[in-house]
Amino acid sequence: LHVAVLMGGWSSEREVSLTSGKGVADALESLGHKVTRIDMGRDVAARLAEAAPDVVFNALHGCPGEDGTVQGMLDLMGLKYTHSGLATSVIAIDKQLTKNELIPHGIRMPGGMIVASESLYARDPLPRPYVLKPVNEGSSVGVAIVTDNGNYGNPIGRDVEGPWKHFDTLLAEPFIKGRELTVAVLGDRALAVTELQPKSGFYDYDSKYTDGLTLHICPAQIPAEIASSAMAMALKAHHVLGCRGTSRSDFRWDEELGEAGLYLLEVNTQPGMTPLSLVPEQAKHVGMSYPQLVQRIVEEAL
Ligand code: DAL
Ligand code: MG
Repeated sequence: LHVAVLMGGWSSEREVSLTSGKGVADALESLGHKVTRIDMGRDVAARLAEAAPDVVFNALHGCPGEDGTVQGMLDLMGLKYTHSGLATSVIAIDKQLTKNELIPHGIRMPGGMIVASESLYARDPLPRPYVLKPVNEGSSVGVAIVTDNGNYGNPIGRDVEGPWKHFDTLLAEPFIKGRELTVAVLGDRALAVTELQPKSGFYDYDSKYTDGLTLHICPAQIPAEIASSAMAMALKAHHVLGCRGTSRSDFRWDEELGEAGLYLLEVNTQPGMTPLSLVPEQAKHVGMSYPQLVQRIVEEAL
């Protein structure tokens, strides 16, 4: 096959995407496919038209590669592509729209409210501790946990680097204390549950992409019924949203509450494919190498 790998772009996750894209492109070449690597710029449509690939591997993260924009362009061009389509991407990139879609289907998620960042200087939108996050970023970019002691040391309203400086609105959610879990779905199957134990703070950008800063425990050492609930919730979310190929659902689990303490936070339709990423790790756990995973994602698109 001739596969064009879309990577990079101009989102805040550009570097992550370049790493995902390199891994994917190298794997496709090792499998004998012809690969065109495209670091996405505004001329992406012209470059794709010139390459005329059999299929596009979308290794973009964030906007506009994960929010439906690129998907709509590929639809118009009549190109086949990996991962979710336009409508699914529009909803899944937005953490509030995702709640609106999934909660009525019985999937437990923390309640959330959209707040004007300006208002945060005057008052807390929720009792502390709570989480502030941009609705449509990935890799924990712009996430702050506001506790009684401030947001990791910086009292709200006085942290010039706080996310409220960079985003007009933010999603505020109650903080779910407890453990961080994630489940990859590939095709029709939830692969495993991984627990993430950051060495310090929470599973933020640095903890995600610096080797050694987070312990990945796969399979998670949790009761069997919690593991099956998480896998069932991830699979259901994948289906309700209409995801294609692969997705990764992130959870927090307050173990004091048992199964009732398991909350889905979000569904990632363009999960990372870097050496520290979780979908490749879970694929390996079920006996699938990185190149086999990439091949499978491509096949789901054909
Ligand atoms: N947003 C990053 C790439 C992830 O979900 O893995
Ligand atoms: Mg995410």
